[in-house]
Amino acid sequence: MRNAVTGPAFILIDHVTKRFGPIVAVDEASFSIGRGEFFSLLGPSGCGKTTLLRVLAGFETPTAGEIWIDGQPMATVPPYRRPTNMVFQSYAVFPHLSVRQNVAYGLRVERLPRAQSERRVEEALALVQLSGLADRRPNQLSGGQRQRVALARALIKRPKVLLLDEPLAALDKKLREEMQVELRQLQRSVGITFVFVTHDQEEALALSDRVAVMFDGRVAQIGSPREIYDRPASRTVGAFIGSMNFFPAAYRGRENGALVVDCAGLGKIAVPEGNRRGEGEPAAVAIRPERLRLTDRPPTGQAAVPVRLISSAFLGDRSHHLVGLEGAPQPIMVAAQSGEAPPAEDRPLWLVADPSAALLFSDD
Ligand SMILES: Nc1ncnc2c1ncn2[C@@H]1O[C@H](COP(=O)(O)OP(=O)(O)O)[C@@H](O)[C@H]1O
Ligand SMILES: [Mg+2]
Repeated sequence: MRNAVTGPAFILIDHVTKRFGPIVAVDEASFSIGRGEFFSLLGPSGCGKTTLLRVLAGFETPTAGEIWIDGQPMATVPPYRRPTNMVFQSYAVFPHLSVRQNVAYGLRVERLPRAQSERRVEEALALVQLSGLADRRPNQLSGGQRQRVALARALIKRPKVLLLDEPLAALDKKLREEMQVELRQLQRSVGITFVFVTHDQEEALALSDRVAVMFDGRVAQIGSPREIYDRPASRTVGAFIGSMNFFPAAYRGRENGALVVDCAGLGKIAVPEGNRRGEGEPAAVAIRPERLRLTDRPPTGQAAVPVRLISSAFLGDRSHHLVGLEGAPQPIMVAAQSGEAPPAEDRPLWLVADPSAALLFSDD
């Protein structure tokens, strides 16, 4: 498992386990988050993301392990005394209060002089671009605007850490993408550490400095978006992040530093990296769709194999072609730029692979 930690630990999650009766929601999570990082917890529904976030916030007590934030152990610190604040997926705004009153509610326990509290409210509204809508009620706002109210109410307390539990999940795709950009800019401008939970891998890649990929309560990999995309630590991570093709293969040994495999269709190729068991054991070569190419001219001197076209999907900025390969149980997906000519259906086709973009996996 790759588990590189950059910078000093601002948040330290030290061997944290959380059980609910027989269910292990979080299983020995151990990693740290740097000050000012945009850090995401990414994984399928039920993998323990919310539980870990609630442990950070102090709403749940870990069954084992410890949380430290900014050099302080959190074991005996109740939620309201922690330097954290949480934003939920459902817009937790009060329908009977105006935008301004909703945001001011975040300050209620601080008992600030009126002028100071009003200034803080105006600042928070400006941060989320709601200054012009301060007197509206939540039912006069769009979903995205309501979520900004919730953000402003969390930010007004100036927490050191903002915990966000799928805050954009209820928004439609277009609005979600706009809010992603805004959220990233907001995080940069306020410099607060964000711990962001999402099951949407594109969202995690687009927003984060680093991502922790979780399955079944366990952290499978931690890395930058590029690291987890280009060098997934396991077959499971590779399949979850983006699209991944798996070619059945057998490992044959090392040659000049590379791993030599017998790969279905592609023959004997040398791949740069991967995990594997012993020689001759079944394994899989993983290649992303954008690292494969289709051609109707038989290529020379490259790893190539005849394939048949099953279907094509035009996606605007790119196309996805599914091709059948003898010996491969699943169709192989090839991504092509939209400018490229579509493969001819009535001519023989070859699939060309770039072995330097391949990874070898033996886990399954
Ligand atoms: N309060 C609880 N009581 C019992 N089981 C829970 C509780 N909260 C979460 N779980 C279980 O713990 C696991 C992880 O849940 P959760 O952290 O909500 O996952 P995620 O946020 O990744 O979808 C799930 O199996 C869930 O059913
Ligand atoms: Mg959740």
